[in-house]
Amino acid sequence: MDAPKESGLRNVSSVCSIPEMDDFDLKNLLDKPRLTIKRERSFDERSLSEMSLTRGLENLELAYSPGGRSGFDTPASSTRNSFEPHPMIAEAWDSLRRSLVHFRGQPVGTIAAYDHASEEVLNYDQVFVRDFVPSALAFLMNGEPDIVKNFLLKTLQLQGWEKRIDRFKLGEGAMPASFKVLHDPERKTDTIVADFGESAIGRVAPVDSGFWWIILLRAYTKSTGDLTLAEMPDCQKGMRLILTLCLSEGFDTFPTLLCADGCSMIDRRMGIYGYPIEIQALFFMALRCSLAMLKLDSEGKEFHERIMKRLHALSFHMRSYFWIDFQQLNDIYRYKTEEYSHTAVNKFNVIPDSIPDWVFDFMPTRGGYFVGNVSPARMDFRWFALGNCVAILSSLATPEQASAIMDLFEARWEELVGEMPIKICYPAIESHEWRIVTGCDPKNTRWSYHNGGSWPVLLWLLTAACIKTGRPQIARKAIELAESRLLKDGWPEYYDGKLGRYVGKQARKHQTWSIAGYLVAKMLLEDPSHLGMISLEDDRQLKPIIKRSSSWTC
Ligand code: GLC
Repeated sequence: MDAPKESGLRNVSSVCSIPEMDDFDLKNLLDKPRLTIKRERSFDERSLSEMSLTRGLENLELAYSPGGRSGFDTPASSTRNSFEPHPMIAEAWDSLRRSLVHFRGQPVGTIAAYDHASEEVLNYDQVFVRDFVPSALAFLMNGEPDIVKNFLLKTLQLQGWEKRIDRFKLGEGAMPASFKVLHDPERKTDTIVADFGESAIGRVAPVDSGFWWIILLRAYTKSTGDLTLAEMPDCQKGMRLILTLCLSEGFDTFPTLLCADGCSMIDRRMGIYGYPIEIQALFFMALRCSLAMLKLDSEGKEFHERIMKRLHALSFHMRSYFWIDFQQLNDIYRYKTEEYSHTAVNKFNVIPDSIPDWVFDFMPTRGGYFVGNVSPARMDFRWFALGNCVAILSSLATPEQASAIMDLFEARWEELVGEMPIKICYPAIESHEWRIVTGCDPKNTRWSYHNGGSWPVLLWLLTAACIKTGRPQIARKAIELAESRLLKDGWPEYYDGKLGRYVGKQARKHQTWSIAGYLVAKMLLEDPSHLGMISLEDDRQLKPIIKRSSSWTC
């Protein structure tokens, strides 16, 4: 990877210099938001001469002018475009604003769900870090960065709390899964309670929170051009504390991050313990974002070196061992087992008999994906949406792999999208396997919730991935499906069934991230230059020089 100033936000002192930043894809996109993009060529393969910088600057001026908005109820995005905005957009903005949570008069986040009809509130009345990400992006895209800044500072303050579960003290860098503002109307005071896993069902710490925090800090910086927040000593320290947790040396033999089950969006037991793709992709993205934001002072410098080494090893490991396509599946199917020493081909001793039947039918001739998990003698072949989309956005996936992931979406549309975008994972686990893997979890029955349920929030990630790979038509199709039902059904948290036809058994209504996810998807399609805040360009120097299968090189 290049020197940090080339890869990121440092040295950028004004909005005008944003085009010099890392995202070549952004510049290309400004010129090519249409359908005519040739599939096989990724954006970064096109030459600079193909870009229209004039148009780029015009767009950037609109997109990067935080103060440019005034009317609270009129989304900037819908006033900007020349075509009629969908009627759902105004409704969605109203609902999103209703979900705002204030602390001492300042908006600091959005509540997870505003569902008065539901008997059980559980913790859906809290601000979840991961749930706030699409809300934050919607506000940034709409030129309202203040709430995002407040959120970043508030959660940073919470990170500084001493965190304990029973008698055990958590790592200093841990970020909360969620927090709640308690208003005392008599004393007229606001206080905050935060949950770092000590109240969460299952008592798991949210490994993803810290990564999302870093990713959001970059999105804020990139969107506003305001470097002062990321450069604040407290923010620099917050980043270093998060990184310390995941860069520490131990007994690891792999550069991937070892996790407990339920430590991310899937926050219940679902057999994702070990090295889940969601965390690995977020880890990779957070490392790259940090590299762009960490100052090169005495403390930052050491982190830079550690991050570079880890990125190098992590990208090699993921691209080699987590990637699967037709060729690779065939190779695994023919693996020999019990190989010893450095010459082993089947390094993790995957027993071919353990390959589930469904994957042979599911794998198209053209297409591929990062599998759910890889550890000794255990390959989880399930496909997970978030990990694969983030792999595209962070450029953990090579351009060829990114294209192959999109090919898979097209080839397996019914399975992965069906009637409501998109499945959290595929396929569902059933019967005996469900009993063993989930511990008989009644919420995670087959094709429901985390077990193959369809989550509208994932629409923004799919859309971003589509734009990055030059396939906006796929996103358009998915958004149309969502538009046919989301508002009518009251913005459910998730849908059930093989095709995602039924509003989820225990799904909340007015789930904020379903609303915000839709808005972000719409704004991204409308103005693809927004992609720059949540996408990182392919870095060729990170690429391992190995070739494993056809879809890598085609
Ligand atoms: C569920 C989801 C989790 C989300 C939370 C709040 O527990 O699994 O990812 O953060 O609800 O919406």
